[in-house]
Amino acid sequence: MDIQQLMMERVSYRGEFQSTPVSREALRMIMEAGLAAPSGCNKQTTSLITVDEPELLEKIKKSIDPPICETAPAMIIVLTRRIYAYRQKCYSIQDYSAAIENMLLTITAMGYQSCWYEGHITDSDNIGRKLADILGVPGDYDAVCVLPVGYAAETAVRAKKKTFEERAWFNGFGKSGERE
Ligand SMILES: Cc1cc2nc3c(=O)[nH]c(=O)nc-3n(C[C@H](O)[C@H](O)[C@H](O)COP(=O)(O)O)c2cc1C
Repeated sequence: MDIQQLMMERVSYRGEFQSTPVSREALRMIMEAGLAAPSGCNKQTTSLITVDEPELLEKIKKSIDPPICETAPAMIIVLTRRIYAYRQKCYSIQDYSAAIENMLLTITAMGYQSCWYEGHITDSDNIGRKLADILGVPGDYDAVCVLPVGYAAETAVRAKKKTFEERAWFNGFGKSGERE
């Protein structure tokens, strides 16, 4: 799959997963793609924990309410640390966002499905901290996102997107950019 096709292929998959385990080799490749992402001033503020051990996975899933990823054979927990790049500038959100997109594209390229679950675990009930505590994460790291990984058991639903012309232009806001 070329990179353009890959980006168009990726969707947020929220359906059931097949029980087929994801190999450690595949999981490591996905994590390496995440860690290869750019980061502001190369501060590398993103860390990752993948959970594939069944008992621990159940414990993690049980801590998330409303439930998500219930059938996923593996989950990647994305951690971030607020390290300042310079003066008052902290790019940790941008850093983990770049890492997540790299991982989502790698997951798609390997034929697996995933979804960027951030709202679910960072809303006011602080599920992220619960997950972090289960995994022994020190207090200066926040768990901000979970990515399930597995083969889809259902058909992925494609989100409706606005047209190109509604959101992107050439040579000025709202311009069609047609060449004379
Ligand atoms: C920052 C961020 C947080 C998100 N959090 C959630 C979430 O908590 N739960 C969820 O089901 N999807 C979540 N998503 C996925 C979006 O809902 C999804 O990307 C969007 O609907 C577009 O669909 P697509 O990813 O299939 O293109 C999140 C995406 C982003 C970028």
